[in-house]
Amino acid sequence: MLKKSIAACVAAASVVIAPMTQASEVEVLHWWTSGGEAKSVAYLKERLEGKGVSWKDFAVAGGGGENAMTVLKSRAVSGNPPTAAQIKGPSIQEWGELGFLASIDDVAKTNKWDSLLPGVVSDVMKYDGKYVAAPVNVHRVNWLWANPEVFKKAGASIPTTWADFIVQAKKIKDAGYIALAHGGQAWQDATVFEAVVLGVGGPEYYQKAFVELDMKALDSKTTEEVFKVFGELRQFVDANSPGRDWNVATSMVINGEAAMQIMGDWAKGEFVVAGKKPGTDFVCVASPGTSNAFTFNVDSFAFFKQSDSENQKAQKAMAQEILGSDFQKVFNLNKGSIPARLGMARDEFDTCAHDSMNAFVSSAQTGGLVPSFAHGMAVSEAVSGAIYDVATNYFNSDTSAAEGKKQLVAAVQSAM
Ligand code: BGC
Repeated sequence: MLKKSIAACVAAASVVIAPMTQASEVEVLHWWTSGGEAKSVAYLKERLEGKGVSWKDFAVAGGGGENAMTVLKSRAVSGNPPTAAQIKGPSIQEWGELGFLASIDDVAKTNKWDSLLPGVVSDVMKYDGKYVAAPVNVHRVNWLWANPEVFKKAGASIPTTWADFIVQAKKIKDAGYIALAHGGQAWQDATVFEAVVLGVGGPEYYQKAFVELDMKALDSKTTEEVFKVFGELRQFVDANSPGRDWNVATSMVINGEAAMQIMGDWAKGEFVVAGKKPGTDFVCVASPGTSNAFTFNVDSFAFFKQSDSENQKAQKAMAQEILGSDFQKVFNLNKGSIPARLGMARDEFDTCAHDSMNAFVSSAQTGGLVPSFAHGMAVSEAVSGAIYDVATNYFNSDTSAAEGKKQLVAAVQSAM
């Protein structure tokens, strides 16, 4: 979808890369506007300004980045892309194929990125064998965030399976709390759906059905069971959820209005910014049934071709800074994720980050390390858009599980 929509515009307007930025300036497109996110990206700005590179902020609010990607497309087709943009996964290849991206391979070679990054990360950062993007982190998406005080008051225990989730969530609801803090936005619906896919079907099914798009796996009893469980969650979300931002949902867990949220570990950034401590003020556990698995979501900046040589230098300074160990530490302490760079000291990271680091390594050995389809890591934009649509329509209706499966199979098939 990205390739088609951009290609059509490129054909209509001849692309002139105009130097809109000042010398030695980077204009950076991202969607990090919540408390924890803003603190994280501010550190990149600070580091670059310390090196004489000025920062032109191009923040486009909207969790999951859909709005940011729409704005990026229009800037790119008008011949005025930013210096760098937060682009992830297979989309990097699509932008590369369209000829927009600049090679930063010299920076990568000088700084030995091939040995600093896990293969699963470095592969995604290259187009045509050359680095065109730099990874800032690894987010784990399959997390459940809980307020232990609410659990205690409701006499409930933290669930480790989806069957148990339903039992505990009923107790919480009966005690007068919101069991599941959730924002009714398509990407958030897809994030919860993804957790159910992984917890109900397991990583092998996830990989076959939602990464390889194997129609037999997708059109199976397991998919129907996934929809059944996903549908049961509707009863635990409050009536004010439509349109709610993810960080507002996190704040409901922080302030004890709600018991749980299913969200990637950018949610931890919100707990941290609120001064909360893991293990006492909040609990992080793998989302139900997924302790042996890890849906990864790597944030990265892709670099756009620049005609001004000073800006090319600034772009390379940014690339180099991103893989620096100081940046990787501080950024990830604020963001809730773990460093993309290997061999980093663990001592300043908290227990949630340690769990994530351990799960990243162990799941890679057992086949449980899978790319997040809800966060642009697994399939094309067209296919993930189709999954978003089905998941969100299903969650906001009383469609049966059999019908949900049917719609998913049809939508994915037509988007492939
Ligand atoms: C991004 C995160 C971001 C989250 C919420 C995800 O897709 O990878 O960096 O914090 O969306 O906006």
